[in-house]
Amino acid sequence: MDSLREKPIEFIFSVFCLIILLSARNSTADLPRLIQPPKSDGTLSFLVVGDWGRRGSYNQSQVALQMGKTGKDLNIDFIISTGDNFYDDGIISPYDSQFQDSFTNIYTASSLQKPWYNVLGNHDYRGNVDAQLSHMLRDLDCRWICLRSYVVNAEIVDIFFVDTTPFVDKYFAEPKDHVYDWRGVLPRNKYLNNLLTDVDVALQESVAKWKIVVGHHTIRSAGHHGITKELEKQLLPILEANEVDLYINGHDHCLEHISSINSGIQFMTSGGGSKAWKGDVQKWDPQEMRFYYDGQGFMSIYISEAELRVVFYDGFGRVLHRWNTYKKGIYSGI
Ligand SMILES: *[C@@H]1O[C@H](CO)[C@@H](O)[C@H](O)[C@H]1NC(C)=O
Repeated sequence: MDSLREKPIEFIFSVFCLIILLSARNSTADLPRLIQPPKSDGTLSFLVVGDWGRRGSYNQSQVALQMGKTGKDLNIDFIISTGDNFYDDGIISPYDSQFQDSFTNIYTASSLQKPWYNVLGNHDYRGNVDAQLSHMLRDLDCRWICLRSYVVNAEIVDIFFVDTTPFVDKYFAEPKDHVYDWRGVLPRNKYLNNLLTDVDVALQESVAKWKIVVGHHTIRSAGHHGITKELEKQLLPILEANEVDLYINGHDHCLEHISSINSGIQFMTSGGGSKAWKGDVQKWDPQEMRFYYDGQGFMSIYISEAELRVVFYDGFGRVLHRWNTYKKGIYSGI
């Protein structure tokens, strides 16, 4: 019954996906760009979930169900995934049943039949990365959009997706018994330098009111993994210089909001898509720590030209934390 009712929506959405793919264009910067039209009133709403693909287990299905309800209430335009899309070791090919079992057949609500903008996490790098980047996944499920690093232009906001796994030294120095798929990443220094330059140039060229950067790994976090030193050293200065509003990540399986006392950047962790409750939380300066929840859930963001609202929810849709910010008139000083 449900699937019959959702058919027209699926059709409209397929056409919509085609438009998005056709409108992907190049610019002077090397990062691929996708166009995400805002609503007719210029605003946007979306959900953010991370660290999820476990074939529904560890409350993944419960979080998905609630995302569907909240997504409907907020009339969301798209979903952002902060990576670790498939546990434990990514997918082995585009035909891997994990794709259906952890994605297509889990996020089934009609409100979630929207573009999913994904980044790769370290667990995704333990599988076949090309499979997750493959157009064949889009043929299987038109929502799936996954590139290594790219920009989504949505008029009032530019969202910069950054492939953070190749920054982390320990995956190269001590892979333990894991095998990482570094095809396309080596030589590593060249890959990282190009990526940092591309992100910097794309941020400088951005004329959007709001700038959001998304990566899998943490820059600021009191959770199990804590700070990612490599990103703090190499990526954070670029985000600060370009006055990025939010850095959003997963990797720590929690929900978290950390402010910065030396910059305007807010650090948001949304890594509660499935397995959580690690229980190890480090001390953090209470002036910066706005919110920490060591459990499952997700985040929503609403953006208008003047306002950005962040809300964190648990797996039952209970609001755990709200935070708003406003853009001052950028022409008021002239
Ligand atoms: C599922 O969610 C409930 C409620 O938040 C929690 O008590 C339980 O531990 C979770 N189960 C798992 C396996 O994470």
